[in-house]
Amino acid sequence: MLGRLNHVAIAVADAEKAARIYGTAFGAEISGAVALPEHGVITVFATLPNTKIEFIQPLGENSPIQKFVDRNADGGIHHICYEVPDIIAARDQLIAEGARVLGDGTPKIGAHGKPVLFLHPKDFSGALVEIEES
Ligand code: CO
Repeated sequence: MLGRLNHVAIAVADAEKAARIYGTAFGAEISGAVALPEHGVITVFATLPNTKIEFIQPLGENSPIQKFVDRNADGGIHHICYEVPDIIAARDQLIAEGARVLGDGTPKIGAHGKPVLFLHPKDFSGALVEIEES
């Protein structure tokens, strides 16, 4: 069920500023900034031939990435996102195998308009994992 690497996310204080060098130095295609209030982030994407880099910036008082950005003033890799064909089937199989799903287990709509869930980093070698329905 594990599909393509959809994106690697880098958390920063200023997503547009962080993405800029990918556009200028690498010549990557950079998206506009999009606010996702339900996730407490602002996102900017750099599109690569085989995946994307998602720059995320805290949005609002209770952003789930605020502490991460406070601890990592220069920014840092925050999560990796894999595609799965059926997010409910993937969730149920992951839970059956002992993996922990963050939140109440109900998928939220992510940056690409598709349902996403996050998985506990302690179950995935210290890396926060996002799954997105492909
Ligand atoms: Co993401």
